[in-house]
Amino acid sequence: MSEPLLSVRDLEVSFRTEGGLLQAVDGVSFDLKRGETLSIVGESGCGKSVTAMTLMGLTGGPNARFSGSVKLDGQELLGADDEVMRSIRGDRMSMVFQNPMTSLNPVHRIGNQIVEQIRAHRDVSKKEAMARAVELLDAVGVPDAAQRARSYPHEFSGGMRQRAMIAMALSLEPEILIADEPTTALDVTIQAQILELLKQLNRDFGLTVILITHDLGVVADIADRVAVMYAGRLVETGTLDEIFYDPRHPYSWGLLGSVPRIEGERLARLAQIDGQPPALIDPPPGCRFRERCPHAFGKCGEEPELLSRGETPGHLDRCWLDISERPALRQLPSGLIGLAKPS
Ligand SMILES: Nc1ncnc2c1ncn2[C@@H]1O[C@H](COP(=O)(O)OP(=O)(O)OP(=O)(O)O)[C@@H](O)[C@H]1O
Ligand SMILES: [Mg+2]
Repeated sequence: MSEPLLSVRDLEVSFRTEGGLLQAVDGVSFDLKRGETLSIVGESGCGKSVTAMTLMGLTGGPNARFSGSVKLDGQELLGADDEVMRSIRGDRMSMVFQNPMTSLNPVHRIGNQIVEQIRAHRDVSKKEAMARAVELLDAVGVPDAAQRARSYPHEFSGGMRQRAMIAMALSLEPEILIADEPTTALDVTIQAQILELLKQLNRDFGLTVILITHDLGVVADIADRVAVMYAGRLVETGTLDEIFYDPRHPYSWGLLGSVPRIEGERLARLAQIDGQPPALIDPPPGCRFRERCPHAFGKCGEEPELLSRGETPGHLDRCWLDISERPALRQLPSGLIGLAKPS
C-alpha cells in the first residue's frame, strides 16, 4: 500500500466569537492518495471551506484555534511556520477559492497576475512567465488566450474567471488542487466544462484533487471518494459507488434525495432536507443530525463514532441505526426526508 499523499487526523478548528466558541471543524480525518479525487460534500456552513483553508494554512486570525494533524508526504503542516507554508502553497498544494475575486486582483491584468505568481516562486524571465501564463489560460480553455491574458478580471465572464483561477492555481504545477465550489456560480453547461477540465487534469497529469461542493450531483462523474460533512463533522465516507449505491447515513439519504434527476420525461421533484443544522456554538450533545432525522431514537443522544459498520472496511458512517435495517428505513415514507413539505 502506498502512503497517502495527504493525511488529515482529528482536525479541529474553532473560532472565539462574541457569541462563544464556534467549533467549525470537529475531528475531521481523511487520507488522500496521489492521483485521487476526493469530494467533500455538505450544506452551507458545515465547515468545508474552513477545512480547506486550514489545509492550506490560511485560516488565520487571533481568534482561531487548531488541533490535530495535516501531513503532506509525512511533513506536518498544521502549525508550520509561515515560511514553510509559503513554500508549499501554490507550489505543492494550491486552491481555487470559493469567491474568484478573493484571489484575482481587480486592478491587475489576468496574465500579469499569473506571471507574478510564477516569478514569486521560480527564477524565470517575465517573458517566459508570460508565455507560460498564456499556455495555462489556453489549457484551461480561455479562448484567444494571448489576447485575453491582457484583460482585467471584470472583463471576464464568471466561467472565464473560474478558468483563470484554475490556471493561476496550476501555474506552479502543484500536486494537490483544492477546488472550493468551483462551479456554483456558473450555468450548467459551464459547470460541466469546468468539471471536465478537472477530470482531464487528474487523468492527464495525475493531479490529486479535493473538490468541495454542496451538490452531490456534481461529484457523480468525477470523485473517487466522497466525504459527507455535517455540522463540522464527517458523517459518512466511502468510495463514490458506496455513497451513491449504498448510502448509510440518513443525512446522505437526504442529500441524495436532493440531487435533481431526470426520471422518464419529467424532472423529479427537487427535494430539500427540512430544518436547519444545529448551531456550532454549544451544539447539543449526541448525533448532530438527530433533530432533523426521522429515524432518531434514544441512543442518538450519545455521539456515534465514525466507524465501518458493514462489511466494507473503508466505508465509514456515524449513525446508531442497525446496519441491517437501514435499507428498509430508507424506503419508508418517513425515510423520504428529502421530500420538501408542500407549501
Ligand atoms: N474567521 C471566522 N470566524 C468565525 N467564524 C467563522 C470564521 N470562518 C468561518 N466561520 C464559521 O465557521 C462555520 C463553517 O464555515 P465554512 O465557511 O467552512 O462553511 P462552508 O461549509 O464552506 O459553507 P458554504 O457552503 O456556505 O461555503 C460557519 O459557521 C462560519 O460562520
Ligand atoms: Mg464554503
